Amino acid sequence: MTRVLVTGGAGFIGSHVVDALLSRGGEVRILDALHPAAHAAQPGYLDAAAEFVLGDVRDSDKVSAALEGVDDVCHQAAMVGLGTDIGDVADYVAHNDLGTAVLLRELARRRFAGRLVLASSMVVYGEGRYACGEHGLVRPAPRRESDLAAGRFEPPCPVCGASLEPRSIPEEAPSDPRNVYAATKLHQEHLAAAFSRETGVPVTALRYHNVYGPRMPRDTPYAGVASIFASALASGRAPRVFEDGGQLRDFVHVRDVARANVLALSAPQPVPGAFNVASGTPRSIGEMAAALHAASTAGAPAPLTTGAYRLGDVRHVFAGVELAARQLGFRAEEPFDAGMAEFAAAALRAPPA
Ligand code: UD1
Repeated sequence: MTRVLVTGGAGFIGSHVVDALLSRGGEVRILDALHPAAHAAQPGYLDAAAEFVLGDVRDSDKVSAALEGVDDVCHQAAMVGLGTDIGDVADYVAHNDLGTAVLLRELARRRFAGRLVLASSMVVYGEGRYACGEHGLVRPAPRRESDLAAGRFEPPCPVCGASLEPRSIPEEAPSDPRNVYAATKLHQEHLAAAFSRETGVPVTALRYHNVYGPRMPRDTPYAGVASIFASALASGRAPRVFEDGGQLRDFVHVRDVARANVLALSAPQPVPGAFNVASGTPRSIGEMAAALHAASTAGAPAPLTTGAYRLGDVRHVFAGVELAARQLGFRAEEPFDAGMAEFAAAALRAPPA
């Protein structure tokens, strides 16, 4: 096992990558800015066996020093989630795009010859994949507000208006980032690919689907639905399921995500390319809310399906997992019910004061 720099190693996913590397006997250095939107202090769950360096990935000197003696880099540092509104745009671009650019420049300066693993996201796809009985694979337009308001949640065939069947999304599907975060994740992939072409460094981009598990931050504008529902249940409130609850996602446990990172860093040969990291079993949001509620001991009321909607939401997106299985040897192992039960009982990370 090599010496690995994990940027964002104090965060939800990064810290699990750190633990997974340490448990395989790896040496780990963390570079993390402990961004005040994510951390009030250095989190207590950090393993002291990892070296901790406080620093921002946009700071060339910090990055250069953190790269000293490192064989491979796992780049998890990023601002995540949907954010509050377009006012967040400059922060997302600064942390995600510029942060990656500075890291790549320092890697190039140091003639880095290891592997680079990049945290990407299924948000680069936008809507999932759909098939029309008549027209085959089609790309539906963003859903219209008038349809959503009328409870017509399924996007229709853009050619004939017929109903569509959702299909799993493969890595070669066209990208269609629909929000600022998604645009920065895709840009990170593109920057890393350009870096790879110029330097020969193999880059593996892992497109995480809906990650959940211990240490997930509490309900904030930057959190995903699993954390929002768990936070509601923990405080005795019913999870509020939007639309009709039938929207499909792939919930993947954070320990599986960490293992995918370890595989990308340690496979006998580098595995360049982009890969879905997902469980392979889509679940509806209603089903996920019910599973969390069933496992919760807080006595909260059952999930409420509200018919409310968010205009930017996609209807279904879930992963084709064959490429990751074939090339990376990755298959998710954490069962959904056990994972959700553990998550319902786990302490969510408190928001910074
Ligand atoms: C989420 C993340 C995205 C991340 C991706 C993969 C957010 C906002 N989105 O995308 O950044 O890259 O997972 O990990 O963090 N919902 C409810 N009730 C709620 C909140 C949401 O029913 O209180 C529904 C939404 O309408 C949507 C689904 O849950 O249909 C998923 O929402 P969310 O987790 O926010 O966004 P994703 O699109 O899955």
